[in-house]
Amino acid sequence: MRIAMFDSKPYDIESFQKLNNPSIEYTFFEEKLSCKTIKLAEGYDGVIVFVNDNINEEVINKLNEMGIKLLLLRSAGYNNVDLYAAKDKIKVYRVPAYSPESVAEYAMALLLTSIRRTHKAYIRSRDFNFSLNGLVGFNLHNKTVGVIGTGKIGKAFINICKGFGMNILAFDKYPDTSLTDVKYVSLEELFKESDIISLHCPLTVENTYMINKFTINMMKKGVVIINTSRGGLVDTEALVEGIREKKVGAACLDVYEEESHYFYKDMSNHIVSDEVLSRLISFPNVIVTSHQGFLTREALDSIAKTTEENIISYMEGKESSNEVKYQE
Ligand code: NAI
Repeated sequence: MRIAMFDSKPYDIESFQKLNNPSIEYTFFEEKLSCKTIKLAEGYDGVIVFVNDNINEEVINKLNEMGIKLLLLRSAGYNNVDLYAAKDKIKVYRVPAYSPESVAEYAMALLLTSIRRTHKAYIRSRDFNFSLNGLVGFNLHNKTVGVIGTGKIGKAFINICKGFGMNILAFDKYPDTSLTDVKYVSLEELFKESDIISLHCPLTVENTYMINKFTINMMKKGVVIINTSRGGLVDTEALVEGIREKKVGAACLDVYEEESHYFYKDMSNHIVSDEVLSRLISFPNVIVTSHQGFLTREALDSIAKTTEENIISYMEGKESSNEVKYQE
């Protein structure tokens, strides 16, 4: 099998090169897969893509014309693939779980950084500025965290929050009744009662912009919003407004709805024309990172291993629960 891997970064390449399977040959391309770059896939049996490759109908039809029948996502989320267009044309596989702890721990890292101002303190002390003015934070102990989506990552995050002695509210379309010390509530109650809200659900048509002007209005003054899931869950303009009005106390964002234009690239020598992103970054109580919740050695190795298992399932014509299909 000859596989073309798009949006490949040195850390991805390293984990795939370790696999060393003689029947699978990987070629790594830095480019994202799109209509412009699709020619690179000529002659390959399958393509591997990541979260910001936009696999729309046009790309799928072109892959189909090129005889490529295998699309592998190096991610759990598949909102960037038009599954309807892929139906009967190309098999799509994902990596449903690689290391939920990598994202959950990262969400907590962002939260702690934000509320204890360690990013500010670090910069100050490098300049021998040891003043503490403006660095007052708050305890997590006894605070209420609202977790939206209690799947693998949400559960791992809940476990971490339990260790901090937090009260945990949760909302999920399919609540997990086996969870202890967690109170499932309506979304409205979660928005009203939480000091911190962390998003751990996939992006779907029904929950796009679930954090919007209306839901922000319901929230407690000073609420901290953490999004390590998908940018489209948050109406960013409404979030900016919420921060300006001091309704939102802080935001920790590892994802952004327009991230595909910027994330994973060095934009430090460019004029970024996205006013919303620039505004967000300018706020002292917002942390923006470049979709890196997954970026641990354990997670990268697990992504590579499962992707290869997906290729093998395809080669052997085996059913796999990692295959994603269009749901009516
Ligand atoms: P999962 O499938 O184990 O859990 C998702 C949970 O969300 C499920 O319990 C599901 O019932 C629930 N859910 C679905 N629709 C919902 C809705 N409308 N409202 C509330 N809950 C809903 O997925 P997992 O592994 O926990 O991942 C969650 C999300 O995290 C992924 O979809 C992806 O968007 C994001 N992610 C981000 C990464 C990063 O690097 N920042 C890396 C990996 C995943």
